[in-house]
Amino acid sequence: EVLTGCSRSSKVCRPARGGFLHSAMLLTLPQLLTPTDLHTARQLLANAPWADGSDSAGPQARLAKNNEQLPRDCEAAQAISAMVMAALERSALFLTATLPKRVFPPRINRYGGAANHYGDHVDAAIRQMPGRHERLRTDISCTVFLSEPEAYEGGELCIADTFGEQQIKLPAGHAVIYPGTSVHQVRPVTRGQRMACFFWIESMVRSDEQRRLLYEMDMALLRLREQHGDSPQTVALTGTYHNLLRMWADT
Ligand code: NI
Repeated sequence: EVLTGCSRSSKVCRPARGGFLHSAMLLTLPQLLTPTDLHTARQLLANAPWADGSDSAGPQARLAKNNEQLPRDCEAAQAISAMVMAALERSALFLTATLPKRVFPPRINRYGGAANHYGDHVDAAIRQMPGRHERLRTDISCTVFLSEPEAYEGGELCIADTFGEQQIKLPAGHAVIYPGTSVHQVRPVTRGQRMACFFWIESMVRSDEQRRLLYEMDMALLRLREQHGDSPQTVALTGTYHNLLRMWADT
């Protein structure tokens, strides 16, 4: 099961069965990275040149931000960023849930010791694509967990949106996508180190509501085809999916 639904009472969010109860979409992408990817990433991160994290934050976020990041151009950052981009291209779930137009090149951060949290903030709406004369609207935020949850205490990603507040702490290699409009924070890490990859997606379908309808329809069609094979009805509904996408998408 790929869907995530977390009750407000649960301290730690885990992938769960069931449909969406909320209008904004928060979705777990289990095992986005393979065990081999994670092994490579850990080797790269072992001697990586960590730097102060405030360089990629806007003025409001900078006040709340206290973590470390890898410089974009270091070997570890480049290799892990490329690894995550390749994983996204392989992930049918990522593609159908986000309908990506542009993906911001993934960056890597670390929380622990004195640089251990990132208080409540909203991510900047517009980002300059590094090295390009192009901007990206941050419709969707994504975090890929690189550390196992047992390796650190605290460090939950807390996301407040129409779905209430969710506290997310996932196994290494899992990712979460959530609306770029959400107020969110990373709780203080009180033991160990939490390393993660973060980036944003501009979707071909700007509206969260429309994107979610398309996602639900695509997933339902997938299951219908699995159970009954192709029928004139699934062909017709697949046509409707594409016609809605054509109506709403901006490429
Ligand atoms: Ni943020």
